Amino acid sequence: MREKKDVLPIRILGDSVLREKAVPIEDLTDEIIKLARKMEITMKMANGIGLAAPQVGRSMRLFVVDTEYLEISKRPMVFVNPVIVERVGESEFEEGCLSIPGLYANVIRPEKIVVRTLLLRRKKLVERELEADGLFARVIQHELDHLDGVLFIDHLPADERARLLREWTLQRHSVG
Ligand code: NI
Repeated sequence: MREKKDVLPIRILGDSVLREKAVPIEDLTDEIIKLARKMEITMKMANGIGLAAPQVGRSMRLFVVDTEYLEISKRPMVFVNPVIVERVGESEFEEGCLSIPGLYANVIRPEKIVVRTLLLRRKKLVERELEADGLFARVIQHELDHLDGVLFIDHLPADERARLLREWTLQRHSVG
């Protein structure tokens, strides 16, 4: 059941937590299980297809992906301490981020990846090696960047990034 108290505030560009390198999770605690559940709810409510722990102010190596929406699994997947072990090809795709609402840009990334990760399943961590391509690979890479303090705009040429950020800042200040 989704309740308002389970929706976490999302940190916005400018918040220093988004620039920290998140730490690995050593022990699975009830608190982390609850956090993951709340992140799933927050992601869905915000219409995102991924959400990383630093975006809700927790600097730990965990993110959720709406693999239910992507029709990859029946439930969203919770990634813990993920590592990309293989990257193949290149593709360009328009990205956005819940932490930079309203800013979109084409980003070039590897097209296929292999990721080694723990997945949170029924309150247990299971080890998996997943192959991903298309939007799934895109989201994993975007979310994993968040764990290293990297945002999608960092992949853009400096002049394009500066222009988009100028426009974004102006827009945010003109609202209200
Ligand atoms: Ni993001």
